[in-house]
Amino acid sequence: MSQSKWPELEQKLFLRTFNRLPVTLVRGKGAWVWDDQGRKYLDFVGGWAVNSLGHCHPVVVKALEKQAKTLIQASNQFYTIPQIELAQLLIEHSCLNRVFFCNSGAEANEGAVKLARRFGKLRLKGAYEVITAYSSFHGRTLAMTAATGQSKFQEPYIPLPDGFINVEYNNIEAIKQATTAKTCAVVLEPIQGEGGVNVPNDDYLRNVQHWCREKGILFILDEVQTGIARTGTLFAYEQYGVEPDIMTLAKGLGSGVPIGAFLAKEDVSVFSPGEHGSTFGGNPLVCAAACAVVRYIVGHNIPAQVKRVGDYFLTQLKSLQQQFDFLKHIRGRGLLIAVEFNQDIAEKLVLACLSRGLLVNKVKPNALRFMPPLIITEKEVDRAISILEDTLKEIRNPKH
Ligand SMILES: Cc1ncc(COP(=O)(O)O)c(C=O)c1O
Repeated sequence: MSQSKWPELEQKLFLRTFNRLPVTLVRGKGAWVWDDQGRKYLDFVGGWAVNSLGHCHPVVVKALEKQAKTLIQASNQFYTIPQIELAQLLIEHSCLNRVFFCNSGAEANEGAVKLARRFGKLRLKGAYEVITAYSSFHGRTLAMTAATGQSKFQEPYIPLPDGFINVEYNNIEAIKQATTAKTCAVVLEPIQGEGGVNVPNDDYLRNVQHWCREKGILFILDEVQTGIARTGTLFAYEQYGVEPDIMTLAKGLGSGVPIGAFLAKEDVSVFSPGEHGSTFGGNPLVCAAACAVVRYIVGHNIPAQVKRVGDYFLTQLKSLQQQFDFLKHIRGRGLLIAVEFNQDIAEKLVLACLSRGLLVNKVKPNALRFMPPLIITEKEVDRAISILEDTLKEIRNPKH
């Protein structure tokens, strides 16, 4: 499909970790991206649930330009202002009291688990085990591979770091059974993103929180994908009536600028100086951008917009379901949505949508996921639905 010279070059130069689609992206604006052949695509992948304000949003560009001319990097040995302002914003708008900045989701989760282990050592007689869920995804470091309850990520790297117990998601009894005197925390995604957009029962997280409080262990939410308005509230925990002891963030926080963070309640914030750190974490450049993102999202009530447009998107998808009986299941909240088919046609659909100018993600062999920028309009949703409809018709009635 592509006339581009870049894919061939990439094949020669890189370790083989990514199965890339045959498109070389060179430019983006809002919910749209362009490839090096001048073709335009509506982006419902959004940098993998990252471009919260879309591509090259003016407030992000302006913040980066200004900060790039002022101070790009300084050691965390010194105070810098953008990271303190970002900390203030996140703490003001969440139930947590203290923050640590890093560079990615995996690092945020590593830090959260280190904090939980520190807590275990100091307050729980050395408890260190962490319970996580099957079908979860927490990142690619060795410890987060052990935390991620999917054997396809774990098997190539066995033996993995000790101290992670994977149990069934959306099953409080499984957590109760796995809890022992060695347990220091439970780590869960409020909605499992990479696992296929799995939305738990309404009372699941409340029951987990209740169990954690009863046992004195930490309740940690990985909001790397669900946080920063993705599901229609600034943080997904707000919709479930819970307050985590620790929450991790990344992805949408910088709208494309790499940043991660973990936040903790005061009584859990047990690190002493030197026990954790990062060279780039909290860097002035990325924090200035993230400040602009969070101010915009809060100031323009983007969570309410996400709920409205997300609900509209769900309704339109449900009307597609009337037409296509092989579209089995639609699930999600806000602008994190998946559709599941009764056949493994996701790969085919991704390529067919691509050729019609729509980027979507295959989250499972039989399921597509949509995670567009949070600023998409109903009109853009209509465009995506119309491309999907044409694509599904083609799959149903293939041309010979
Ligand atoms: C819930 C969740 N946690 C952690 C991560 C890992 O984030 P990163 O790729 O920035 O390390 C991801 C990435 O998809 C994620 O969805």
